[in-house]
Amino acid sequence: MASGRESLRNGDSHYPFRQDSDFWYLTGFDEPEAVLVIIPGRESGEQLMFLRERDPERAQWDGPRLGLEGARELLGMDDAFPIHDLDDILPGLMEGCERLFHLVGKDPLFDQRVLGWRNQLRARSKGQKGPGEIVSLEHLLHEQRLIKSSEEIRCMRRAAAIAAGAMSRAMRHCRPGMNEAEIQAELLHEYHRHGCQPAYQPIVAGGANALILHYITNNQLLPESGLLLIDAGCEYHNYAADISRTFPVSGRFGPAQRDVYELVLAAQQAAIDQVRAGQPYDAFHEAAVRVLTQGLIDLKLLQGSVDDNIEQQHFRRFYMHKTGHWLGLDVHDVGDYRIEGQSRLLERNMVVTVEPGLYIGAEDDIPEPLRNIGVRIEDDIRVTSGDPENLTHAVPSAVEEIEALMQR
Ligand code: GLY
Ligand code: MN
Ligand code: MN
Repeated sequence: MASGRESLRNGDSHYPFRQDSDFWYLTGFDEPEAVLVIIPGRESGEQLMFLRERDPERAQWDGPRLGLEGARELLGMDDAFPIHDLDDILPGLMEGCERLFHLVGKDPLFDQRVLGWRNQLRARSKGQKGPGEIVSLEHLLHEQRLIKSSEEIRCMRRAAAIAAGAMSRAMRHCRPGMNEAEIQAELLHEYHRHGCQPAYQPIVAGGANALILHYITNNQLLPESGLLLIDAGCEYHNYAADISRTFPVSGRFGPAQRDVYELVLAAQQAAIDQVRAGQPYDAFHEAAVRVLTQGLIDLKLLQGSVDDNIEQQHFRRFYMHKTGHWLGLDVHDVGDYRIEGQSRLLERNMVVTVEPGLYIGAEDDIPEPLRNIGVRIEDDIRVTSGDPENLTHAVPSAVEEIEALMQR
């Protein structure tokens, strides 16, 4: 398995390096230009890493590297080799192996090298040595990543707490006359002072911008009597939090804003209650859709029965995304959602987001007070053996609690 690559931004500047999630999961090693090899049963060492050597001259420019010694001592590798020796050493390591597990298709350049090492060995030995079978590692590894260990849950609770603190800070600082960019700065301030990075580009969407699901421009003046939708989270030890809150720029919800907001909140509460071991994954989405559809009928935005509107998917005019996703090292984390065509059952220590929303445009048939209201409420929920654990509970979502926080 290869580490992530450094990626050039422009000129001599790189994007901040973010380790590949699979590589991080198995190594906890945060440098590029490394390869992990695991050879079960190899007597002289099962876990090997190829990585950059320490280099006093590079250290002067870029800072210290972990080096071969560090890989053995701190990462617990059985052995470590310079990354430059990879082509020389790797074919030999495959000699006694029947099967090669590899993340096929993730990095085409690395695919070529892996096949090259194997083919070289097979050719040299006239097909007598080296793995005859190549197995994609993706499914096996990603099923492991889907169920979080207690150490991973500890990281996720921490990411969630910091992201919640940042969201509360945004609520406290928000005032009419501010720009979306100033609110984004408050979020980033809170992430960075805790040693975290954003887990994805924050969405800071005032008023009608909230109707753009992936709005990341974040540079407009906040509407004085409008809502502000923020969807933002950070990574702690590369584990993501993903939170959305929607609140009034003025600190007080207007009547129509409050109606829509409380409907989305009721949908979220109904959905969270379905995040239980043994429930199908789809159950929490279906619960949210049912509450939202009934509410849209009550608001006169849909006509007819709940069942018909769900069956005909009329709710999708106002609610066009799913209610959540797996959460972990990736914000949209790995793991299958369906098994043999069926929604898979939730298991203890899976973590999902629950994020219903409503996005009401300004078309002629929409009553004026409801126009351009976009609301999403998103929390991170762990499946337990009992009640769902809301990792992001610390940031308020009840109307009264939001208004009270904003008044402070
Ligand atoms: N922020 C990405 C998402 O909510 O899925
Ligand atoms: Mn989100
Ligand atoms: Mn999400």
